[in-house]
Amino acid sequence: GTGFAPGDEVLVRHDGTFRATLTVPAVAAVPATGDDGSDLRFGLDETGEALRTALSDPAGPAWVTLPEDLQERPEPADEVPAGLRADRTYLVTGGLGGLGLVTARKLAALGARHLTLVSRSGKTTEEAAPVLADLAADTEIDVVRADISRPGDVERLVRHLRSGSRPLGGIVHAAGSYDKKLISELTWESIDAQLAAKAYGGWLLHEAAEDSFPELEFFVTYSSIASVLGGATQGHYAAASAGLDALAEWRGRRGVPGLSVNWGAWARVGMSARLEEHLSQEIERSGVRFFSPTRALDTLARLWGRPRTQRIVGEFDWDRYVSGSVNGDLFYDRLARQGGEEGTGLDLTALTALPAAERLAAVTAVVSEKVGAVLHLEEGDELDLNSEFVSLGLDSLMAQQVKAALEQSFRLPLPASLTHDHPTVRALAQFVDGQLAPAPAA
Ligand SMILES: NC(=O)c1ccc[n+]([C@@H]2O[C@H](COP(=O)([O-])OP(=O)(O)OC[C@H]3O[C@@H](n4cnc5c(N)ncnc54)[C@H](OP(=O)(O)O)[C@@H]3O)[C@@H](O)[C@H]2O)c1
Repeated sequence: GTGFAPGDEVLVRHDGTFRATLTVPAVAAVPATGDDGSDLRFGLDETGEALRTALSDPAGPAWVTLPEDLQERPEPADEVPAGLRADRTYLVTGGLGGLGLVTARKLAALGARHLTLVSRSGKTTEEAAPVLADLAADTEIDVVRADISRPGDVERLVRHLRSGSRPLGGIVHAAGSYDKKLISELTWESIDAQLAAKAYGGWLLHEAAEDSFPELEFFVTYSSIASVLGGATQGHYAAASAGLDALAEWRGRRGVPGLSVNWGAWARVGMSARLEEHLSQEIERSGVRFFSPTRALDTLARLWGRPRTQRIVGEFDWDRYVSGSVNGDLFYDRLARQGGEEGTGLDLTALTALPAAERLAAVTAVVSEKVGAVLHLEEGDELDLNSEFVSLGLDSLMAQQVKAALEQSFRLPLPASLTHDHPTVRALAQFVDGQLAPAPAA
């Protein structure tokens, strides 16, 4: 995953077996396997990941795109990540999860030779087994079962780490879980469950580091973009992530290493890769793009030695993000490109100038389209304008999506009870129409 230059010889191994030698050629695009027609594309710095993908799915094509000017991306000397020490142990909580595993692989690639991976179950998943087997070729892997939110388990983990012959050199706290709930659905149990691994676990690790691990080179917590941008159904998840951001800041003020990374959505691995299709689409529509694990980890390795305690890392389409905001936001408006696309394609001035009946018909068409998209209707499916949303299967999360889509289209703030108070397409369109062109006072 560290990148290759044209002419480099790449040894391809799979399951520890030597397979082939590839020479990285100086052409614009290299089909790693098969023909074109695939959306699996990797940058030059992701060649390792492309090869792994190609080997794990020999039938599916994977492409590596080389930069046009092959000399264009030398790494500035001060950006080359420092190597890790072979005489230290490095700890990854959530180490058998999606991000934890690729993080472990990155630490090993940077020189770590002793890794302790923590999860509650301690069980090697189907996804983890080949990665661990691969790593075990030159790295000692120690899998420890511990619930990082429980003081007793953390004490046991600390004793275990201290009983080894090497000091702890760094912590990556990647334990966490995913849940989605609207604010109105949150209970203390659901909030507590989100705080557990991230916030409570982060704090217990901080205390352990203060008492027992004076030689830490880094203390990285895997936070989320949710604590920066928010997001429907993400209140408790965002709060847990904000706890990690505050912890890193607190550690920074005490003069000890601390970095909270607000990750955007990772492609291919971890909880974001396991999301239902419609939720992934929702994330992309909001302007948060799924981005490459290799790029994520290369970025991380350049960050942990720096003085900042919080960084946002991901790929974002700020134009799209801003176009979804009803009230605007000065900070993100400045990030978005000047004159960026409007995002909705609706000419509101022309719409409001239409005669009343035509305007209502146009508004009804938009409402119908948005409701149909949220309900995942197929092309050609008829949406009855008078059917109650509940009978169409519109649940509370979908209601929130309809509200957000209509706010974006009509650039109007709409109430949370929108689909409840106006429970059919026809009623909802009449309400929106009334908001766009209020009846003149009598
Ligand atoms: N994937 C993304 O795109 C993304 C984006 C932003 C932030 N993040 C954050 O990055 C972290 C890792 O995410 P992921 O995608 O790798 O998730 P994942 O695949 O679900 O892995 C999470 C791991 O954490 C472990 N875990 C959960 N609670 C724990 C606890 N109390 N003590 C010890 N281990 C615990 C789980 O194992 P057990 O169930 O066996 O304990 C699991 O192996 C999470 O905090 C997540 O919020 C991820």
